Amino acid sequence: MKNLNEWKETAVQAIKDCHNNAELNQLRVLYLGKKGPIQEIMKSMKELAKEERAELGALVNEVKQELSTLLEERRSVLEEQEIAARLKQERLDITLSGYQPQIGNLHPLMLVQQELEDVFVSLGYCVAEGPEVECDLYNFERANIPKDHPARDMQDTFFINVEELLRTHTTAVQMRQLEQYHKEGKEIIKVICPGKVYRRDDDDATHSHQFMQCEGLVVGHDIRLSDLKGTLLFLAKKMFGEERVIRFRPSYFQFTEPSVEVDVSCHICGGKGCSVCKGTGWIEILGAGMVHPNVLRMAGFDPKQCSGFAFGVGIERIAMLKYGIDDIRAFYTNDLRFLKTFKRFE
Ligand code: PHE
Repeated sequence: MKNLNEWKETAVQAIKDCHNNAELNQLRVLYLGKKGPIQEIMKSMKELAKEERAELGALVNEVKQELSTLLEERRSVLEEQEIAARLKQERLDITLSGYQPQIGNLHPLMLVQQELEDVFVSLGYCVAEGPEVECDLYNFERANIPKDHPARDMQDTFFINVEELLRTHTTAVQMRQLEQYHKEGKEIIKVICPGKVYRRDDDDATHSHQFMQCEGLVVGHDIRLSDLKGTLLFLAKKMFGEERVIRFRPSYFQFTEPSVEVDVSCHICGGKGCSVCKGTGWIEILGAGMVHPNVLRMAGFDPKQCSGFAFGVGIERIAMLKYGIDDIRAFYTNDLRFLKTFKRFE
C-alpha cells in the first residue's frame, strides 16, 4: 500500500514536470504499461486474501483512473502549447510596405481661379464657361471689333478657318452670355468667365501665347463706373489684403467706353516703392470699363434702358504677384518641385 502511494506521488510529479508529448507517452508506458507497477501489483494480488484483494483492487483502479485523467489533461495542455509555439514560429508577415500613392494637388493657376470664383460667387455672380475654339462673331464682332478693324492686331491669332479661331479672350463667353440672357428675357446679368485664351505674343518671362483669364460682366439698370470701382476694390482686398487701395487710369478697349486700366497698391511694400512695383508703389492688375452701347445693342439690349461694366483679369498675373513667381513659363513646364509648393488652404 505504501509502495502504491509512493510511486503514485512520483508519477504525478513526473507528469506535472513533463514538457513535451513524446516524454508524456513514455511516462504513460512506464506507469500504466504492461511492465508498469500497476500490472506488477495486479499480478501479486493473487497471493492476497479475498477481502484484501478487493480492497487493493479498488485502490489500484482508482490510482489508474487518476493517472489516466492526469495524463490526458497534461496531454491537452502540452498540445495547446505546442500549437501556440508553432503558430508563433511560423507566423507569416504579410505587412510588407507597399508603394505610397502620390497625392496630387491643384495647379497654382487653378488655385487662383478657384479663389477668384469664390470671391465673385460670394457677390452673387454665376460662373460661365464657353468653347476654346470660338467663332469670329463672339470673339470679335459682338465685342465691337468688326472684321478688318486694326484693334484685332493686338490679339489676332490662331485661326482654324476664316470664321473660327482659338479665342483670344473670354470676352467671347460674355458675348454668348449676353445673347443667352437676352433670349431668356432676363435683364440682370452677373457672370464671371474663367478659362484659357490664346494670342499672338512672344513667349518671354511675362508673356505666353496661351494663358488664363477671368473676365466679369454685370448688366442691369443704372450700373455705374462707381459700381465697377467698388467691385474691383473688394476684389483687390480679397486677393492682396485688406489694406489695398486701387486706382483707375484711362485706357482703351473696343468693347468698353470709358475704359480703364486698374492698378492696386503694392502688396509687398505697401505703396512705398520696391522692385516688384518697379518703384511706383502700384501694380497693374486688370483692364475694365463700362460696356460699350454697341455691344449691348448687338446682343439685343437697349443701351438707354440698361448699362453695365466688364473687367478682365489675367490669372497668371495674379498668381505671379500673389506667390512671388518671376517667370510665367514655370506654370507650364510641369516641374513637380514647383507645382507642389502651392496649397490654398493650410
Ligand atoms: N478682354 C480684355 C483683354 O483680354 C480684358 C477686358 C475685359 C477689358 C473686359 C475690359 C473689359 O485684354
